[in-house]
Amino acid sequence: MKLNIDQRLLQSEIDALAGYSSEPPPVVTRVVYSRADREARVYVKGLFADAGLEVREDAVGNTFARWVGSDPELAPIGTGSHIDAIPNAGKYDGVVGVLGGLEAIRALQRGGFRPRRSIELLLFTAEEPTRFGIGCPGSRMLSGVLTVEAAGKLRDAEGESLDGLRAAAGFCGELSGVALPRGYFEYFVELHIEQGPLLEREGLSIGIVQSIAAPAGLNVLIEGEGGHAGTVLMPDRKDAFLAGAELALAIEGLTLELGGLDTVATVGTCNVFPGAVNSIPSRVQMSLDLRDTDGARRDRVLDAVGVAAKEIAVRRRVAIATELLNADAPASCDPNIIEAVRAACEAHGVTYREMVSRAYHGSLFMDQVCPMGMIFIPCRGGVSHRPDEYSSPEQIAAGALVLAETLARLAGGGE
Ligand code: GLV
Ligand code: MN
Ligand code: MN
Repeated sequence: MKLNIDQRLLQSEIDALAGYSSEPPPVVTRVVYSRADREARVYVKGLFADAGLEVREDAVGNTFARWVGSDPELAPIGTGSHIDAIPNAGKYDGVVGVLGGLEAIRALQRGGFRPRRSIELLLFTAEEPTRFGIGCPGSRMLSGVLTVEAAGKLRDAEGESLDGLRAAAGFCGELSGVALPRGYFEYFVELHIEQGPLLEREGLSIGIVQSIAAPAGLNVLIEGEGGHAGTVLMPDRKDAFLAGAELALAIEGLTLELGGLDTVATVGTCNVFPGAVNSIPSRVQMSLDLRDTDGARRDRVLDAVGVAAKEIAVRRRVAIATELLNADAPASCDPNIIEAVRAACEAHGVTYREMVSRAYHGSLFMDQVCPMGMIFIPCRGGVSHRPDEYSSPEQIAAGALVLAETLARLAGGGE
């Protein structure tokens, strides 16, 4: 099919969306339900409506924009991603899948294509863990992996509940209505930047994702004993931070020892109380983000971390409590989607390779709803979650082109 991606229009929309940020350019910070997020949603929904899509929102702000097919009774083909951005981020993570998905639909419309199945563009209410401490809250709720009860307990760092925050952002209705029935979509396919260096390094345009690594999240609370930094002698101390430091190094060691190439562990937060130069840390809160494509191997590392925590607690005479926030299942991409993306690349002479997604995405949870797949495009230096994140207009357009062709193949229909 002849498909024309309007590269300039798409880039201008990506640039405009980057303007909805809590911090000045080039930084994009757009935390879910913040003012920047709420205003960005108005902009994006306007674009959806301009393309003639039927827009609906659920009780937490997951937004669906449907291009109705000639057989509207059939399960739609889903595509989309997120527009929330972590603090000090760039403008492409997630956005390429939403606005690129929109441009893919518009390219099909311009080409006179009429899909048999509806094509539905989905904006996950949030993919980032910034606000509620768990990744993919939007798709997690859509999939039912995050239960209504657990969602009702979500709070941000200021103690604000999901319920209060969503209501303030204008999203009402019962949380029980958010989960999608299994099979709601026939297939779901997400376009995203790679967030790693492989495509750029190999000079390739498209990554066809085979599987998505899954995270486990652990909250660690260490209680020691505070005191005067000058007067408490070293043998008498119960320093919560030093216990945490040992645990962090043990996590690194266990990951290297028991994990494989795809096993990665990050202690990304460490809050020390009281946080004074001349006061021994009495309490520490740390987080662990542990990921793997092999769930059983990841869980073996997790178990070993628990054993190490107990040993360090005894030896250092502190209390270490761990709370498992999530331990998600890795997902394999659907062979029919993989085949459709490959055929789309070949039909348009676009270079590609197969790859693993080591970042998580909404698609990880959509796997619980329907067969899913992902299309990656290169990003400069593999850089992401930084203001200098960058994919060129041509690279983004190639992704939108391959997505459009893929959607056409999955939806059926014709000109
Ligand atoms: C998503 O942003 C991730 O942390 O993989
Ligand atoms: Mn991200
Ligand atoms: Mn993302």
